[in-house]
Amino acid sequence: MNVAERVAVVTGGGGGIGGALVARLARAGARVVASDLDAETARAVSERVNADHPGSTVSAGADASDTAQIEQLIALAENTFGPVDLYFANAGIAGAPGLDWCRGGSNAARATSSAPPRRPGCSPRSAPPRTPSPSTRP
Ligand SMILES: NC(=O)c1ccc[n+]([C@@H]2O[C@H](COP(=O)([O-])OP(=O)(O)OC[C@H]3O[C@@H](n4cnc5c(N)ncnc54)[C@H](O)[C@@H]3O)[C@@H](O)[C@H]2O)c1
Repeated sequence: MNVAERVAVVTGGGGGIGGALVARLARAGARVVASDLDAETARAVSERVNADHPGSTVSAGADASDTAQIEQLIALAENTFGPVDLYFANAGIAGAPGLDWCRGGSNAARATSSAPPRRPGCSPRSAPPRTPSPSTRP
């Protein structure tokens, strides 16, 4: 896909994948709003990318889970570069949640509660029922 002259918004743009996306888009000629909950990391990415591709990015601190803040991001992109062509909803919490995550397995959680908290996205029965392996079936 040719992204030259396209206008892009990248949420989570201060992080690993988001920062790489901002850089790659700018290298391909796009104009990019690098946004992140952590405004400082977004600014650092933007400055680094602009050093190689002057004027290609601006940064903003924004919570991607807040509609009003997303609207502000879009407005920033439109006012700076023009209508938004590409929106990368990249913001999120990286990691590989497993059973320990769903059971509130951090030491901090264990230390403060006898009933482990259930985390977002974890159902009460998030672990699938075990099925016997072929070797244990009658
Ligand atoms: N790294 C992986 O192996 C992997 C695997 C699968 C999915 N992902 C997803 O890819 C995305 C990027 O991962 P990454 O490895 O670059 O993680 P990262 O932690 O390096 O970057 C994520 C960025 O998102 C920001 N962020 C978090 N919540 C936010 C919010 N509400 N609004 C705005 N910004 C917010 C963080 O401040 C951080 O800078 C995440 O959504 C992650 O869940 C990553």
